[in-house]
Amino acid sequence: MSISDTFTEAPSPLSAGQTGTAAKENTQETLVLVRPDDWHLHLRDGEVLRSVVGDSARQFGRAIIMPNLKPPVTTTADALAYHGRILAALQQAGVPTGRFQPLMTLYLTDHTSADEILRARDSGIVHGVKLYPAGATTNSDSGVTDLLGYCRAALEAMQACGMPLLVHGEVTDPDIDLFDREAVFIDRVMKPLRQAFPALKVVFEHITTADGVAYVREAPGPVAATITAHHLLYNRNALFKGGLRPHWYCLPVLKREHHRLALLEAATSGDGRFFLGTDSAPHPKGAKEQDCGCAGCYTAHHAMALYATAFESVGRLQHLEAFASLNGPAFYGLSPNADTLTLERIAQPVPDVLPLANTEVVPLAAGETLAWRVQAG
Ligand code: DOR
Ligand code: ZN
Repeated sequence: MSISDTFTEAPSPLSAGQTGTAAKENTQETLVLVRPDDWHLHLRDGEVLRSVVGDSARQFGRAIIMPNLKPPVTTTADALAYHGRILAALQQAGVPTGRFQPLMTLYLTDHTSADEILRARDSGIVHGVKLYPAGATTNSDSGVTDLLGYCRAALEAMQACGMPLLVHGEVTDPDIDLFDREAVFIDRVMKPLRQAFPALKVVFEHITTADGVAYVREAPGPVAATITAHHLLYNRNALFKGGLRPHWYCLPVLKREHHRLALLEAATSGDGRFFLGTDSAPHPKGAKEQDCGCAGCYTAHHAMALYATAFESVGRLQHLEAFASLNGPAFYGLSPNADTLTLERIAQPVPDVLPLANTEVVPLAAGETLAWRVQAG
């Protein structure tokens, strides 16, 4: 990674913790990274897929594609078909062939067989199996009701063939407070799972708490976590600032400030167990602005600028490349991308709305201005 400065006139927010020769006084810098990947992305399908896929492809080399479509992607055949639709959408969006690689996942159910896992592994296009506890979030109704009760054969096969389990880590017990569901999940599901399958690769997706950070840091064996930009930048106050703000509502929900600080510390530490996963999840504006609004924040449009803002807030831009471009491929057993992405310090206003099929999506931080933007080309 290189951080370069092109002007030397005024004080820079980039003064603490910066590597290299960047001067004390800059007004503009560029940041050149090995091209990042998004290890947790919702692309949806059909017209919506065609609307959003270009946003991810502009920044990322690859993305782990979430399988919570309606109906969900539960078989290798489904994943292959969905892969084909994504490639077609990329072509329609004018993305050169091979520039962006969708890494497919299967949606784990109580009925996923060991054979299905082996078919997925043999396909070469499936890179993980997603655990949604039934009822935990958007389109999770077909998810798992009892992981160690019904999924042992699938988990055994995954452990044996090195297929990672990607975990939505929240219990669904209505007696557990919404803000405690991740911490309780660690005790009730994650620990027994890892005890039963110690060599299973596990990605604790979109962790949101200090408890999640501590668990991943200390757990023995192949465990890692993705962290979203919104959980690095906002605490739960954002949901209620000046009124109820549905575009900050996602699951797992934003938490208290001390949890945000723990996530920020982990993401920017350089620790290889933490890597980028936007959980960018587009919903039409009207589906969020209603009496029972959907969970999900649309961040793909300006994801890398959001992450750069978060890293810069603690003077750790020098660790952005490890988090965004190196730690993920290392965990998944892939090589880092061969090309680069350049971010430049040029103010970028976030649009109020973006087109989404025949409607609109409100991106996260709509109307705000970010200090960084991705260089075209
Ligand atoms: O906020 C979320 N939205 N969390 C999820 O787990 C799913 C996602 C979606 O698909 O909309
Ligand atoms: Zn997600």
